[in-house]
Amino acid sequence: MIYLDHNATTPLAPEALEAMLPYLREQFGNAGSGHALGLVAQEALVLARSRVAALLNADPGELVFGSGGTESLNHALRGALTPAKRHVVSTAVEHSATLAILEDLKRAGVEVTLVGVDAQGRLDLEALEAAIRPDTALVTVMAANNETGVLFPVSEVARLAKAKGALCHTDATQAVGKVPVDVRAWGVDLLTFSGHKFHGPKGIGGLFIRRGVRLRPFMVGGQQERGRRGGTENVPGIVGLGRAAELAQAGLADMPRLAQVRDAFEARLKADHPDLVVHGGEAGRLPNTLLAGFPGLEGEALLLRLSQRGICVSVGSACTTGQREPSHVLRAMGADHGVARGTLRFSLGQGQTEADLRVVAEVLAERVTDLRAKGGLGR
Ligand SMILES: Cc1ncc(COP(=O)(O)O)c(C=O)c1O
Repeated sequence: MIYLDHNATTPLAPEALEAMLPYLREQFGNAGSGHALGLVAQEALVLARSRVAALLNADPGELVFGSGGTESLNHALRGALTPAKRHVVSTAVEHSATLAILEDLKRAGVEVTLVGVDAQGRLDLEALEAAIRPDTALVTVMAANNETGVLFPVSEVARLAKAKGALCHTDATQAVGKVPVDVRAWGVDLLTFSGHKFHGPKGIGGLFIRRGVRLRPFMVGGQQERGRRGGTENVPGIVGLGRAAELAQAGLADMPRLAQVRDAFEARLKADHPDLVVHGGEAGRLPNTLLAGFPGLEGEALLLRLSQRGICVSVGSACTTGQREPSHVLRAMGADHGVARGTLRFSLGQGQTEADLRVVAEVLAERVTDLRAKGGLGR
């Protein structure tokens, strides 16, 4: 199998699994208990917290662990609102989780302004600056787009938000582990991350909350996470997340190589398919992501044919698979409908080589020819 869907999720690193196992077996203590078993769990949380903090250049006390990206987005977007400030600025290409939360907030009377992107998926910074108002509670932009891989200028956005008295949150779910993420250099107040996107376990992630920022808790309950997120801590998950963070830091050194593998693959596809459209190809992108449109073809049909040959890719975002409409990201970029429909996302991961990708290019050439012979739709 050749797995090219790392933006949907990544395999758990064996080292992370090893680190977790004792906490799923004999070290089952509740980190809130005062006895020896509880203390072991507490110590494990302290170590994991410091490892994740090191990856993000945060202080350990600035992290709140929760169930993943979606929960942290809810915490950040809902928690930043105040009675006096009920306006949020975001972008049209955010992850569907962010857009769903914003829709929900709108139903509760919150005003939302979504800023657009250009044909390459680059953020319109001037429009973003113009959108920030005195009653803007939060400016939230993703660090990297899950479909195109296009990077947003987070530090610029944070500077603009701060100048106008708004908080700045970035959804770094796709950025962590692929590009350096530094909450200090970026100057953000809030940052979301999720373990399963960088070889940690599923169901664990967190929110960076810069010291001094007041944010209403989202998950109200016990006094865990200093009262910022109620519920008994997921000790094995947090331990796995910590180990994955350590590995991610070391793994950043492999990213320039991965970008070369991606670029060589992209060049090969362009040579094999002269009408190929690379979405966001002229923008700064994540090193692992290629979103490519095969005009006149049905992406789903191509995906299934690749899957039959053991190659896993996706049509844009995994979350919109099954929908026949082009993704909201491609719509915001003004992509041609016929190109958007035939779009596949290839998201590479650690250790993948040019040889792996040559196999994919060969199978693709064969499958595309086959599909075109059937009129492009595969039905
Ligand atoms: C950019 C982005 N934000 C948020 C999420 C949601 O993260 P989680 O699956 O941990 O809830 C994803 C996952 O696909 C994502 O790609």
